[in-house]
Amino acid sequence: MGTLSCCLLLALALLGPRAAAARKCDLQGLWRNELGSNMTLSALNAAGTFSGSYHTAVAVTNKQILVSPLQGAQQHPGDKGQPTFGFTVQWQFSDSTTAFVGQCFVDRRGKETLETMWLLREEVPSRRDAWKATRVGTSTFTRVK
Ligand code: BTN
Repeated sequence: MGTLSCCLLLALALLGPRAAAARKCDLQGLWRNELGSNMTLSALNAAGTFSGSYHTAVAVTNKQILVSPLQGAQQHPGDKGQPTFGFTVQWQFSDSTTAFVGQCFVDRRGKETLETMWLLREEVPSRRDAWKATRVGTSTFTRVK
């Protein structure tokens, strides 16, 4: 192997991890989770907030599922490569609200994943029923587009 090729390989090996660390995870786009739910997230505005729509594949209620709006915010927009974020979904077919929090990860190949946790609050008739009103879970979203 020539000296030039050797130097190039060394440079790539040294720069590789930095290049990966420099990759930024972008929330904008179409995402799908392990349940088959789809969501579309808009670009961030100057304040770091975003909107979007959520099409859940599953529901607690038996009512017809409707695509529902979401509102969220990303922490340190334009700053970090793997930012944290949160959003709430205002379901259009039930009285519940879901809040998601998570982090956007990007691997060395540029593949983005949203690792989230959610709380689903159901409307109950009285405070006595509050104990059974909240579900919790985790969800992983991968980019569709
Ligand atoms: C409801 O059934 O009252 C509203 C729909 C809730 C869907 C939940 S939110 C958390 C979990 N992840 C999904 O993609 N869908 C379910």
